[in-house]
Amino acid sequence: MKIGIIGAGRVAQALARHISAGGDQAILSNSRGPDSLAELVRNFGAGVSAGSIRQAAEASMVALAVPWLKIDEALAGLPHWEGRILVDATNQFVGRDLADLGGRTSSEIVAGLAPGARVVKALNTLVVERFESGPFKAGARRVTFISGDDAEAKAQVGSLLSGFGFAVVDLGSLRIGGLAQQAGGALAGVDLLKAT
Ligand SMILES: NC(=O)c1ccc[n+]([C@@H]2O[C@H](COP(=O)([O-])OP(=O)(O)OC[C@H]3O[C@@H](n4cnc5c(N)ncnc54)[C@H](OP(=O)(O)O)[C@@H]3O)[C@@H](O)[C@H]2O)c1
Repeated sequence: MKIGIIGAGRVAQALARHISAGGDQAILSNSRGPDSLAELVRNFGAGVSAGSIRQAAEASMVALAVPWLKIDEALAGLPHWEGRILVDATNQFVGRDLADLGGRTSSEIVAGLAPGARVVKALNTLVVERFESGPFKAGARRVTFISGDDAEAKAQVGSLLSGFGFAVVDLGSLRIGGLAQQAGGALAGVDLLKAT
C-alpha cells in the first residue's frame, strides 16, 4: 500500500516511519517541492519517497499534516478526490490560540476543502513525541482515536493504525467524534493506555 502525506514535518515523518516499518510505502510532500526533501528521505530508506503534493494526493489514502493556516493552500488546486481517503491529522492552532471555526468542526472544514474525499480525523490527539515513541508503553497499547462519516474509510484507517500497534477507538462522525478529538475537545492531548 502507498500512502501520500501532505506535509513533511514532525507528524508526517513519524507517520512515514510507522508506515515504512510496517512494510508499506509513504510519499512525503511539502510546499517547496520534492527536491527540498531529497536529503530527508535518504535517511528513511526504501519505503519513503518524496513527491509533489499532487503526487501524494493521488494515493488511495492521503494524510494531511500541515499547520492549520496552511490547509487551504495545501489542498488548493487538487483534482476531485473521487472517494480517496484523507486522514486529517491537523489541529486548528493559530499560534497558541484556537482558530474560530464558525460552529463547524475542524475536520468538517478540511472536508469542505477536499471535495469528494472521505475524511477521517486521526492522529491529532497524540502529542508527536508519543506518536514517535510508538504504540507500546508499560506493557499496554496506546489508544488513538478516529472519527469520520464513512464507515469503510474509517475501517481502512483503523486497520492501518492498529497495524502500527495502536488500540483504535472509533468516536463516530466528524461532527460528534471530531469535536471530541479536535484541539480544545475533551480528548485533545489525552494519552490513554489499553491493557493488551
Ligand atoms: N506537533 C504535534 O505534537 C502535533 C500532534 C498532532 C497533530 N499536530 C498537527 O499536525 C499538523 C502538522 O504538525 P507538525 O508538528 O508536523 O508541523 P511541522 O513540523 O511544522 O511541519 C509542517 C509541515 O507542513 C509543510 N507545509 C507547510 N505549508 C504547506 C503547504 N502549503 N503545502 C504543503 N506542505 C506544507 C511544511 O513544509 P514547508 O513549509 O517546507 O512546505 C512542513 O513539512 C499541524 O496541524 C499540527 O497542529 C501536531
